Amino acid sequence: MSKELIRKMLLPNRNGSHSLSTAMAARSGSGKTTLLTHLVNEARKDEAFKETRFVYISIKQEQLFDEKVPIVTNVDDLLKQWAKNPIVTYYPTEPEFYEVDIDEIIETSFSVVDKVEGGIVLIIDDANVIKGFDSRGIVSPSVKKLTIAGRSKGIRGLFICHRISNLPRLMNGNLSGMVLMSISSMDLDYSKKIFGQDFEPLMPELVDYRWAYVDLIEDKTFKFNPVPN
Ligand SMILES: Nc1ncnc2c1ncn2[C@@H]1O[C@H](COP(=O)(O)OP(=O)(O)O)[C@@H](O)[C@H]1O
Ligand SMILES: [Mg+2]
Repeated sequence: MSKELIRKMLLPNRNGSHSLSTAMAARSGSGKTTLLTHLVNEARKDEAFKETRFVYISIKQEQLFDEKVPIVTNVDDLLKQWAKNPIVTYYPTEPEFYEVDIDEIIETSFSVVDKVEGGIVLIIDDANVIKGFDSRGIVSPSVKKLTIAGRSKGIRGLFICHRISNLPRLMNGNLSGMVLMSISSMDLDYSKKIFGQDFEPLMPELVDYRWAYVDLIEDKTFKFNPVPN
């Protein structure tokens, strides 16, 4: 996997052609959390990400980063940890406040990003649990702002969910790429209709932790072997 591709997937770049948000979709247990952890660790090895701040929001409260990555449960602590740590894991604690917590992280990112030279990557794992993440759902104004206005501010979302149809319709045209692992055949129609993408030929190749990056800007697909686990 080249540096160039990781930058396309994750690097916030206020003027970049590929710096809209990215989505990752695959069934439960297909290796999404493992893959995103690997991608972020790879990004960290690249000088271009030196000043970038990542927040990994894990609704399931699990993280595969090493123990040097601090875990926080509120935004004040997130900001404190970001001063010293490029990656911080955030565990939302109360199910009734999942949406509120995520909105607060997004709004806080917008208010501090001008001081963050390398931009911010906001990763929401198991986003399908969040209200608004289904084809009919209406996302919160903050998620909408992240999706639409994040790029120009240097903030990128990485939305991880089980089904392509968990991605709100407004993301059509507002994503630079999609990372796919084992997808559901039920998603094929939705992908065609909403994203104009035919993933049927790709489906049989996305087994056993294999994955693909679909560049939605240049309409190209890159296929990969499983990352080490
Ligand atoms: N690249 C891989 N190679 C081998 N095993 C993997 C790989 N990725 C994930 N796994 C295994 O599959 C299981 C589910 O992985 P996980 O990343 O939690 O999936 P998801 O986040 O999609 O539910 C874990 O037991 C993990 O060890
Ligand atoms: Mg997971």
